[in-house]
Amino acid sequence: MSNWSEMDTYAKQWIKEAGKKVRESFQTELNIQTKSNRNDLVTNIDKETEQFFIEKIRAVYPNHKILGEEGFGDELESLDGIVWIIDPIDGTMNFVHQQRNFAISIGVYENGTGILGYIYDVVHDELYHGQKGKGAYMNDYALPKLEAVKVENAVIALNALWVTENRKIDPSILAPLVRDVRATRSYGSAALEMAFVASGRLDAYLTMRLAPWDIAGGKVLIEEVGGVVTDLKGNELNLLNKSSLLVGKPRLHNRILYDYLNKG
Ligand code: IPD
Ligand code: CA
Ligand code: CA
Ligand code: CA
Repeated sequence: MSNWSEMDTYAKQWIKEAGKKVRESFQTELNIQTKSNRNDLVTNIDKETEQFFIEKIRAVYPNHKILGEEGFGDELESLDGIVWIIDPIDGTMNFVHQQRNFAISIGVYENGTGILGYIYDVVHDELYHGQKGKGAYMNDYALPKLEAVKVENAVIALNALWVTENRKIDPSILAPLVRDVRATRSYGSAALEMAFVASGRLDAYLTMRLAPWDIAGGKVLIEEVGGVVTDLKGNELNLLNKSSLLVGKPRLHNRILYDYLNKG
């Protein structure tokens, strides 16, 4: 049987240690490269942080699998067994430009089900963590269950790009939502945006395309506080593939899904 409490203790210890290294890196010069396009950045710290986690996990749990954004983990064809899904720095653009508004995000899944979730806001030393069936926390503070909110009182996160001409969604679908909510926000770190939904700082977050490592930790946290996590069609996510994402408070999630995204 898996010892989740032991894994949780290790995970928190490794995340804190990695976070300290990331904060220390502010004193050193970053090596910044681009990936798929000129705005898709990666730094030596993204890579070193992923490698740090992989070394630690392999030393204690040689049978576990690892899926990491920067490719130092395993090539996975299924989520069978225990899989650590790691985004060493979510919000690399913010890390490079702002030295804030980024996070370390980790989800530990068993046969495709999220069991442990972590999002560490490194600069604020705020660790959002949760375990399936045991609630979610921000540091030592137990996050309360999410309460219903009306669309007109909701603050939602969304990238302005999706309300301009783009290849993924007709902007006329999202424009009414943007007009009807109380306010929109865009933080540039999917993981933090999910942590903010879990902690009630945001009421919902939606986006067109994310990778498993952007979502894995946040999904566990949001579900633990009664929030809903689906793609933009309302389907369950498969953490092996890229997908769109809609997370939010229970009724609000439903309203956004059926009154705006999939009307009629
Ligand atoms: C990105 C951030 C960003 C989201 C992008 C992600 P990265 O992750 O989460 O908010 O809009 O789609 O790729 O590359 O900084 O880890
Ligand atoms: Ca990236
Ligand atoms: Ca990411
Ligand atoms: Ca990343």
